[in-house]
Amino acid sequence: MILPILHYPDPRLRTKAKEVDAVNDKTRILVKNMFETMYAEDGIGLAATQINQHLQIVVMDVPDSQDDYELLLKNRKNDSDKETNIQHHPLCFINPKITTISGHEKHIEGCLSVPGFQAEVERSNQITIEALNEQGESFTLHASNLLAVCIQHELDHLKGILFVDYLSKLKQKRLLEKTKKVIKD
Ligand code: NI
Repeated sequence: MILPILHYPDPRLRTKAKEVDAVNDKTRILVKNMFETMYAEDGIGLAATQINQHLQIVVMDVPDSQDDYELLLKNRKNDSDKETNIQHHPLCFINPKITTISGHEKHIEGCLSVPGFQAEVERSNQITIEALNEQGESFTLHASNLLAVCIQHELDHLKGILFVDYLSKLKQKRLLEKTKKVIKD
């Protein structure tokens, strides 16, 4: 089931997500719906916060390389040629925690909750994350570059933080004005 996504500046995007007490069938249905919603919207990551479910769950499918990512962004922009050879790597993180963090890198980020807007953000480029999978089993993942960036972006959602919060006050003001204009139109 494709679920509606909350859009910036919806205040519900600022909600702090709660830990999942027990991973059960209800959790797995939510995860399945999150994947369906993310793929339907051509996203590479989605946090439960974005579909107004305030639980610590994120799903991701991050392309292997920067080239694949740029191809995906280009296709999304043109809304054409959605058939690509991008490899799929579905990942689900429940109650995720970043345990190590190092390095830094600048990336152009976008977000399904801020449609039509992209901006450069600096984040760590090497991280270790611990989480539960859809079966409730714990796992550890070392991630770098685009995957590390995406994980930090999605985990921010669970804390009520959006990538636009890292931009200058002026850029945030302009974005807000642009968003209000779209709503009015
Ligand atoms: Ni996002």
